[in-house]
Amino acid sequence: MQAFLAWIEARIPMMRVANMHAIQYPAPRNMNFWYVFGFLATIVLVNQIVTGIWLTMNFNPTAEGAFASVEYIMREIDYGWIIRYMHSTGASAFFIVVYMHMFRGMIYGSYQKPRELLWIFGMLIYLALMAEAFMGYVLPWGQMSYWGAQVIVSLFSAIPVIGPDLVQWIQGDYVISGATLNRFFALHVIALPLVIVILVFLHIIALHEVGSNNPDGVAIKHKKGSLSEDEKTKFEIHEYYTSKYDIADDVVPFFPHIVLKDLVAFCIFLAAFTYIMFFAPEMGGKFLEHPNFEIANPLKTPAHIFPVWYFTPFYAILKAVPDKLFGVIAMFGAIIFLFLLPWFDRGTVKSWRYRSGLHKLNLLVFAGVFIFLGYLGGTPQENWKITASQILTVMYFGFFILLFIYSKNETTKPVPARIPK
Ligand code: HEM
Repeated sequence: MQAFLAWIEARIPMMRVANMHAIQYPAPRNMNFWYVFGFLATIVLVNQIVTGIWLTMNFNPTAEGAFASVEYIMREIDYGWIIRYMHSTGASAFFIVVYMHMFRGMIYGSYQKPRELLWIFGMLIYLALMAEAFMGYVLPWGQMSYWGAQVIVSLFSAIPVIGPDLVQWIQGDYVISGATLNRFFALHVIALPLVIVILVFLHIIALHEVGSNNPDGVAIKHKKGSLSEDEKTKFEIHEYYTSKYDIADDVVPFFPHIVLKDLVAFCIFLAAFTYIMFFAPEMGGKFLEHPNFEIANPLKTPAHIFPVWYFTPFYAILKAVPDKLFGVIAMFGAIIFLFLLPWFDRGTVKSWRYRSGLHKLNLLVFAGVFIFLGYLGGTPQENWKITASQILTVMYFGFFILLFIYSKNETTKPVPARIPK
């Protein structure tokens, strides 16, 4: 066995890569609950790809056959319903996990120097994930698939000059039709998953180059020669890291320490996931919307059209602005501002543990605003809700502007040189 493994290792650096990026990766020893979501996102990604492959085996990507083929999967294919519910629940789970993952980055300042590019890769993943989820939702060709696509694709018509042509180009037809469904299928099953997998790979490479941040925002890598032997880690860390830096005794090797923490999180996640999958796969119409159990009918508009819950904060921003073009600009602007977060924050202290009360308040208010916008964008429109969406939209952008203003001269607490014992 040893000889066989050595034979492989001489031809492909399997163990070297496993040691460097997993087993002997130096992880801060104070990684807490918030640090499990990257691992969970990876698990959900694998779940989506595997169940997606099985769904594709029986899905018919045509306007005539799509809806019936999903029913066929649910009723006739052995365990087809489990595969489909794993995939549909997985879509919502993906966004829950990714939103927690992003908020973790915000509270611990993981987007700040030197992790700006890591954040940008994360945001690109988020963007690709939104496109992936949107196109996936069109595939079952139910009423919400059709009308949701109608609303979102027609947004592009607001773009001056090229808008109407662009809409036709996206649809592949003058209206949303089988041609649209067919191309969304191609993008959903191969193009976007490929993009997402490549981006996740780059995300991890970027993370490992700069090293993980942690809940105290304290550096674990130091200039070569700046730490005494006593201050350096006694654990076996891959030489790639120790040859470039002095690694403080604040780290543990990823295996088994972090792997065990992640496994606990995985068990809890699995319990919640399977509970939803078996007992509430529609989640009261939030994960699978009720109108989508009716086949797409271009002649019958549903009473209310909403996107799925994970898009509703942005939908509320779109609706808050009376002008269509400015609404679209505000909606995309909300995402662009998130991309630019590393540059809105001019502070040098990372973790909110050592930052001002104003910063903590700003972050908590932002989270509340995002959730409330999500509620407003996902429930039937009323007059007060439009006013509320407008106020909350201003507050959404206000978070970034405020951050830019106060972060330059913020009163912060002293950050310890080492992770506190
Ligand atoms: C498919 C989606 C994603 C996957 C599979 C993924 C995977 C991971 C993994 C495995 C880690 C290391 C473990 C951890 O810190 O939790 C990580 C770290 C990180 N991710 Fe993601 N990620 C995804 C999406 C995102 C998004 C959307 C963002 C933000 C825009 C983001 C920002 C970050 C940051 C800033 C870190 C470093 C955190 C730190 O060291 O404190 N990721 N990601």
